[in-house]
Amino acid sequence: MKKFWWLFLVSAVDLASSASHSLQYHYTAVTPGLHSPEFISEGLLDGEQVVYYDGNIRKKIPKTEWMEKNEREDYWKTETETSQHHQEEFRHDLINLMKRFNQTGGFHTVQQMYGCELDTDGAIRGHWLYGYDGEDFISFDLNTETWTAAHPKAVITKRRWDSQKVYAAQVKAYLLNECTAWLQKYVEYGRSSLERKVRPEASLFQKDSSSPVVCHATGFFPKAVNISWQKNGEDLHEDVELRETLPNQDGTFQKRSVLTVSPEELDRHNYTCIIQHSSLEKEMVLHVSRRRVRPEASLFQKDSSSPVVCHATGFFPKAVNISWQKNGEDLHEDVEFRETLPNQDGTFQKRSVLTVSPEELNRHNYTCIIQHSSLEKEMVLYVSRRRVSGGDWIGIIVGAVVTALLIIVVIVVWMKKKHQPAYQAPAGV
Ligand SMILES: *[C@@H]1O[C@H](CO)[C@@H](O)[C@H](O)[C@H]1NC(C)=O
Ligand SMILES: *[C@@H]1O[C@H](CO)[C@@H](O)[C@H](O)[C@H]1NC(C)=O
Ligand SMILES: *[C@@H]1O[C@H](CO)[C@@H](O)[C@H](O)[C@H]1NC(C)=O
Ligand SMILES: *[C@@H]1O[C@H](CO)[C@@H](O)[C@H](O)[C@H]1NC(C)=O
Ligand SMILES: *[C@@H]1O[C@H](CO)[C@@H](O)[C@H](O)[C@H]1NC(C)=O
Repeated sequence: MKKFWWLFLVSAVDLASSASHSLQYHYTAVTPGLHSPEFISEGLLDGEQVVYYDGNIRKKIPKTEWMEKNEREDYWKTETETSQHHQEEFRHDLINLMKRFNQTGGFHTVQQMYGCELDTDGAIRGHWLYGYDGEDFISFDLNTETWTAAHPKAVITKRRWDSQKVYAAQVKAYLLNECTAWLQKYVEYGRSSLERKVRPEASLFQKDSSSPVVCHATGFFPKAVNISWQKNGEDLHEDVELRETLPNQDGTFQKRSVLTVSPEELDRHNYTCIIQHSSLEKEMVLHVSRRRVRPEASLFQKDSSSPVVCHATGFFPKAVNISWQKNGEDLHEDVEFRETLPNQDGTFQKRSVLTVSPEELNRHNYTCIIQHSSLEKEMVLYVSRRRVSGGDWIGIIVGAVVTALLIIVVIVVWMKKKHQPAYQAPAGV
């Protein structure tokens, strides 16, 4: 449902970083007949979904273990009735607004977003807004206790609600008293879960040496995190793309930032990714200059009696180990290591050559092992045991036939020689 939230709201109600806790409710009504339920309501504590209702299940349900454990049946019964009532209200609001916009069909949405925030210093903030078709429609100003029409079509609503002073007073009282009371109650329920601190796991990766560098943090809680980049110790803002913080299945979060930079720049300068999170005593610093790109490896042989070549390419940094094993034992004889060479794209390649007879290859297990700092585990390539292919049998048969024919020819020639007449015919006639 998030996709319907209009941009204005998303930025206007971006919770202040100083807020210690927040409680928010989101209601969404859509024209019926689509795949999604026509009404959805969700309650979020510190941005995490804790209760949910939709027009299909027609029941308010807990979305966290601690909500389920701490509220009794009568709570869920009352909440279900309230949500069913909201569903009715929103159905009428949608019909009324479609009429006001002269719309007879199509896909339309009415949304409401309200809630409160409690700062560490005790300050309270509240918001109460409506949206129509993905745009801001009308909102409540807590200071003046008046309504602000964001759309010309909302002016009628503003006039009506402004004339009902009692309504404004109710909204204000709800936001400042009731909402914050619920917020504190829920925070108590979920304190151990909400105030837990889980360290991010961080990594840097790159598809290949000319791809953007990704700095990725995952598994952290709470949601607030900073990911930034530095070039030779100075903050870097260009060519940086910060992605949205996403929830993981287990209630933790993940976020990534992508730096677009050329391989030459990466080689010349020190790039670092810096991760700040409340679970960390010190910020995490990841050095990109020590970037790692995995080798691609292959084994080849010109033909069955040629040496076997073990080839690794496309890796960075340059340091690599290529070794051979025979039946699991290190092999040093008949092994030749070639120099590590640079590739065009800033990566490296290296090969090692093993000279071995076809018979030996057949009888023993030979493996090539590649070690590189980009690899969690060494790469093991098996030299496939040489099979005598159909071609070889044909070769043997042809060889035998040719040999036999040759012998016959030799014998025939020898016999002919033996039976030659004793005299020589005169040369020429
Ligand atoms: C909507 O319809 C009414 C009555 O038919 C008309 O007066 C009004 O101009 C229309 N408004 C829009 C936005 O089309
Ligand atoms: C990058 O950092 C390393 C170690 O911190 C330092 O030795 C090197 O001089 C730095 N290079 C540049 C280009 O700043
Ligand atoms: C993120 O950076 C801002 C501004 O520097 C800072 O106020 C905030 O505490 C940082 N957040 C974390 C989680 O470190
Ligand atoms: C070679 O490896 C295969 C499978 O890993 C094993 O069955 C076989 O016994 C090995 N042969 C030798 C000579 O080590
Ligand atoms: C290569 O082998 C040496 C000695 O065993 C080891 O110290 C080094 O870390 C290895 N290098 C890589 C890139 O794995």
